Amino acid sequence: MIHKPVFFLRSLRVRLIASVVTIEIIMLSILVWNNISIIQTTHTDRLRDTATSMIQQISNTLGNYMVAVDYATLEDYLSNVINYKELSYIVVVDRDDKTVTALGNVTPKARPEIDLHPAEVNDGIFDIAQDIKIADLPMGRVLMGFSLSLMDDAINKSRNRGITIALIEIALTVIVTIIIGLGLTRRMGVLSRAAAEVEAGNYSVSVPTETDDEVGKTAAAFNSMVAEVSKRTQQLLQEEKRTQQLLSENRLLIQKSLEVQEEERKHLARELHDELGQSLTAIQADAKSIKDLSPKNDRRIITSADAILNVSAHIYDVVHSMMRLLRPSVLDSLGLVEALKEEINIWNKRNPKTKCTHNFEGDLSNLGEHTNITIYRIAQECLTNITKHASAENVSVELKNGKHDLQLIISDDGIGVDVNIPDRGMSLGLIGIRERIQALNGLFKYETSPGNGFRVFIRIPHNAGKQS
Ligand SMILES: Nc1ncnc2c1ncn2[C@@H]1O[C@H](COP(=O)(O)OP(=O)(O)OP(=O)(O)O)[C@@H](O)[C@H]1O
Ligand SMILES: [Mg+2]
Repeated sequence: MIHKPVFFLRSLRVRLIASVVTIEIIMLSILVWNNISIIQTTHTDRLRDTATSMIQQISNTLGNYMVAVDYATLEDYLSNVINYKELSYIVVVDRDDKTVTALGNVTPKARPEIDLHPAEVNDGIFDIAQDIKIADLPMGRVLMGFSLSLMDDAINKSRNRGITIALIEIALTVIVTIIIGLGLTRRMGVLSRAAAEVEAGNYSVSVPTETDDEVGKTAAAFNSMVAEVSKRTQQLLQEEKRTQQLLSENRLLIQKSLEVQEEERKHLARELHDELGQSLTAIQADAKSIKDLSPKNDRRIITSADAILNVSAHIYDVVHSMMRLLRPSVLDSLGLVEALKEEINIWNKRNPKTKCTHNFEGDLSNLGEHTNITIYRIAQECLTNITKHASAENVSVELKNGKHDLQLIISDDGIGVDVNIPDRGMSLGLIGIRERIQALNGLFKYETSPGNGFRVFIRIPHNAGKQS
């Protein structure tokens, strides 16, 4: 099953752009985040170093002023120091923790908390403190606060720069992807339209190869594939035409041979009737004369004459039944219905375990010789098949002349047959029926399955019988 993406993702171009932009955003975010954390670490380290060395130096210097209680010089010194751009405040307290001086943005009373690490500062100021000692004697403490705003500025600038670069990069990527995607989808579109044409049976299409890249190579492969398919299709069509021609020639041949066979049978039946029938009648008359003219006490002549009479009567019966098989005279003299009735009667006598019934509907007297003999032969073949294969108890023959066509249905309740098992190719009865019906533009089909009998359906349109 082909999975269909949501409607706007069905375009290859949109999918391409969406994927590239997503990847770009993820990668650039990681890059910007990485830059910011590098800047933060660098600034924090530098600030800690600066703060530590400054407070060290200031506490050393302030020690002397504190010993001398020269607070004026101390303040003077610190007012120079406070100008340092990152310095936010300086507070100096004496041994008793009293504020000596407080410079910068801090109230003398409010003593800031000392931060452990500039990175963890909450109020934007990194606070640091150092004891002031002279010869290991504590003189007071100095507290300093360093503003982190410079670091924040740098981080903001870096973030903005990163975002700007990312946006430019995304825009450039989208433009490039659109241009490449447009070219790609245009050429793929040409390919897919050509494939649709081929599917519709137009093998004259070819797609431009344009470049030597993958799409160009695909296009070239497509063109040679179409040429090959076209060649093969032509060959197939020719073969099919030849097979069709052979088939119709075969059909004609079969139908012609069926006609010839019918003519031969008719001719043979007539010959048998005219020649053999006449001769047998003459033989019988002669045997009877011999018998009548022979002396009454000459048993040998009478016995021989009786033997001739019996043998000739037997030959007459055989010839008669041969003639009926070859061409039932009743078909020509009394018509199809009577010929079928006679055939069914004889069949019932030969197959005492099976009962064959018949039903005739409509006017069946003017069907034409060709249709008559066709129906008769088909009924003969079906009844023979029932004797040979069906083991049936009941058989029915229905012939109906309807408004539009003639219908023959012959069904039995025998063992049936599995049509999926191929026969050995030796059976010609059903093929003969098919060909006879084909010659009359009719329809022939049968239904059967193991245990469900066999049912033959035949339909012959009315105009077909007029050919004969
Ligand atoms: N009434 C039927 N009941 C069961 N099977 C049948 C019946 N009629 C035909 N068949 C099956 O269909 C096959 C084909 O029948 P078809 O008349 O073509 O050949 P056949 O009778 O075997 O040989 P042929 O008719 O050439 O002497 C038969 O071999 C048989 O298996
Ligand atoms: Mg048969």
